[in-house]
Order: sequence, then structure tokens, then C-alpha cells
Amino acid sequence: MSKESQSTLFVLFGGMGDLSWRKLVPSLFSLFVEKKLPKSSVILIVGRTAEQPNSLSHLQEGVKNFSRYKKVVDEHWDQFATHLKFLNGDINQDDLYNELKEFSKELSKDGSSLQRIYYMATPPSSFGIIASKLGDAGLADDRKNDRLVIEKPIGYDLPSAKTLDKSIAKYFQEQQVFRIDHYLGKENVQNMLVFRFANPMFEPIWNRSYIKQVAITVSEQEGVGTRAGYYDHAGALKDMIQNHLMQLLCLVAMEPPMSLATDEIRNKKIDVLRAVRKINTGEIDQVAVRGQYEAYRQEPGVDPHSTTETYAALRLFIDNWRWQGVPFYLRTGKALSKRYSEINIQFCKVPHKIFPASAGADCQPSQLIINIQPNEGIILTVQAKKPGSEIALKTVNMNFRYQESFKKPSPEAYETLLVDILRGEQTLFMRVDQVEASWAILMPIIEYWQKHAPNDFPNYAQGSEGPAAAEELIESEGGAWPQCMAFDIE
Ligand code: BG6
Repeated sequence: MSKESQSTLFVLFGGMGDLSWRKLVPSLFSLFVEKKLPKSSVILIVGRTAEQPNSLSHLQEGVKNFSRYKKVVDEHWDQFATHLKFLNGDINQDDLYNELKEFSKELSKDGSSLQRIYYMATPPSSFGIIASKLGDAGLADDRKNDRLVIEKPIGYDLPSAKTLDKSIAKYFQEQQVFRIDHYLGKENVQNMLVFRFANPMFEPIWNRSYIKQVAITVSEQEGVGTRAGYYDHAGALKDMIQNHLMQLLCLVAMEPPMSLATDEIRNKKIDVLRAVRKINTGEIDQVAVRGQYEAYRQEPGVDPHSTTETYAALRLFIDNWRWQGVPFYLRTGKALSKRYSEINIQFCKVPHKIFPASAGADCQPSQLIINIQPNEGIILTVQAKKPGSEIALKTVNMNFRYQESFKKPSPEAYETLLVDILRGEQTLFMRVDQVEASWAILMPIIEYWQKHAPNDFPNYAQGSEGPAAAEELIESEGGAWPQCMAFDIE
């Protein structure tokens, strides 16, 4: 039986929470519209007070607001809603898991096999308890069909991540665990493997001989919003760099895999993380920058003396043959001037210039820009001769846009990831060793920042490009942050 047609119980712990409302239920609705949701599937919304007279209409409102298929909600909602069931219960109490057991028995009483997906859309502090209660109740025993989905943050540092990983591993085998990093579900992030390894011309120049610098930017315009309860204990390094930006770094820097086999790709990614040069405590002020936006301490729920960083930038080196000496810059922040995510690969200058200075004052080294959002695509900047009888150069863009080439919107990251969970396909999910290796890289910074409170917070204005120290970080190595290219292209 194909995975798509297998009976499925999709248990959404925290099913009435924000993640579920904005992302998960709207994405499940999209899958339903596209006929990708197994026909005999039950989506069980679990929460302390999940079942209320207005629960269904609340979820419908979320779908109307956030689904890609918001225009056809009225047409499909009633049918979709037949898949939704509600269960009130406390995740700390055994009763809930006994009820779940009964519920799943009922679904498979005709003897058919049932795949059970447990999605923890709950605060991270409950991940361990849910996993162990499921295990104790015998709800994790079917190694092929029982899956646990865990959202980041996985721990808040290396020791806590290890503790959590251990408590999950007691009941779930690695092939049952799906650690979500939603960046890996974004279309152009998945495209990076195709771009690098399905085209012969980039791989030969994808190394220290031709690439001068790599910069990965995830810039957000929004501030912390309503998430201070979580964010003020996390900050940009743990919330974004440890997971999303590190995963992007792996995709840029990994060696060519032999095949698309899940572990083959995951092994190549972990090789990158293991090769990242250890950061010494003595150099942290030179390689890492933190910032906080001006109004952060006045945001609802934020400690008025908070030292949490809402901006972080790092310089990393990868100690292997391919990347020796090439700086990788990672930066992310909230309340910045624009919302965009881009990877910028800057190539080296030509070794010998034959054009007179008069021909090209703006003769710039080529850049390859991978626009992740908005406006997904890839730009390669090259030098071209300006039309006319004189030799004069200008930088021009060679441009690939998803929207233009494929004429249809890309799926939401969560839709892609949910389909893979239903199929049991793990390539786009983080393996346990990746999560721990990424924490290990950042631990010196985490510890140093904890011990040394910032003395200049807040240090950047809302709507700016971030703290001035981030400019110095890159200028000190002779570089500059690349310009955002996402909006130059229509
Ligand atoms: C989440 C972070 O993982 O990613 C948020 O917890 C952040 O703080 C979000 O806003 C950004 O995701 P996207 O897809 O909007 O870039």
C-alpha cells in the first residue's frame, strides 16, 4: 500500500496553538485540496481545551487567513472538516495516552495497518514528556508506522539537547524521528542540491580557488511580536543560527553525495559541521556580533533589562581542502529594514585584468545569489560590454525566477515537509548528530555571551541594517555585506 493511501492518525499535540493555527492546519488543508492527504486519515487536535463549541470555526478562520488555498475554503471546508477530531487532555497525564491508545485501536479494528504521526506543536519543555509517555503507553512500538515530529528548538544548548535526544531515543528509533527545520522545506533551499549537482559547470569552481566569501543572510522586518515568552530565553543565535542558517551552510559547503539516499546526504552535511573551525573563547568578540533593537525591551512579555540578542552575525571557517581560508558569514536579525533570506557567493577577481581602468570602474567580481525569499530564484552577476564602439564594462544579472519559469506558486515549506513525514522520507529533516554538532559549534559563543553581558544594548534602530559592529566584523577581513538582491528583480 502506498504511504499516501495508508490509514493515518495524525495527532497534533498543541493542536489549538499558534503553530497549528497558522501553519499546520492550513498546510494540511492544502494537502487535502491537492489530494495528498491520505483518504482515511484522522487529524486529532489535542489540547487541554481542544474541544470547544468554536474550535472548528477557529481553525477554519486560520485556514482562511493562511492557506495557499484560502480562496477555496468554502468549497472544501466541510469535507476537510470530516477529518478533524478533537481530544481534550493534559500531556502530563497518563489518561490522555490511554485515550489515544483506545482511539487508535478503534481506527485499526478491521486489522488494517495504521500509521501514527505524533506532531509536537507544543512548547519545547514538553517534548521529553510527550515522547516518554507515548513510549510508556506502547504508542511508539511500531518502528515502521509510528513517527514523532519535533519542532526546533531542540534543547537550548548542547547538554540540554543531548538530554532530550536521549529521552527520545529511549522510545523512538532514529528512523521514527522527524526533526523539523522548516527552511529545509523551502523550494529554493531544496533546489540547492539540484543546482549544485545537476549542472556540470558550478562544481569545478565551487571551492577556495574561485570563491572569495560566502554570506548567508536571514533578515526579518517583524520584531518579536507575541512570542516574547519563548524568544526572550532564546535569542537570535539559538532561534535561527543554530538551525536554519547552519543547515543552509551545510547545503552550500557539502561535498557531492553519491546518491540521494537519506543518510548519504545527511553524512555529507555532518562532515561540514565537523569541519567548522572551533571558535576559541579569546576570539569571540572578533568573530561574533550581537545586537538588540531599540524597542525590544518595551515589547510585551520582554524583561525590561533583557540582554537577549535579536541580531547575531558570525564568521566561520571550514577546515577542509575545499574551503580552507574562505570566510562564511552568517547573519540574522529581527526588526531590520527588509524581510529577505539570501545566500551570496562571491567569486574571486579575475587573475589578470586586460581592460583599462577607464573601461570598467565598476568591474566587480561575479556573485551568485540564491534568493530563498521573497521572490525565489537565482541571480548570477557577470561583466558585460556596454553597447557602443568603446570598450566599457558593466555588471549585469543573469536571472532565474521560480515564478517566471514555473508559472505557479511554490508549496509552503510545511506542506512539503508534511508530505515527506507521511511518506516516511527523512532527507529534509535534521538527524540527531547534526543538531548536536551545530550546538557544539556555538557553545563557546553561548557560554561567553552568558558570562559577558552586552554593555551597548540596545544597539540598533528598528528598520536599520543592524548594529554597526556587524559591518566591522566583515570589513576587518576585507569584505563587505552583500546588497539584498531580492527586490531588484521583478
Ligand atoms: C522560526 C523562528 O524558526 O523562523 C522565528 O523561530 C522566525 O523567530 C521564523 O521568525 C522565520 O521563518 P521565515 O520562514 O518567516 O523566514
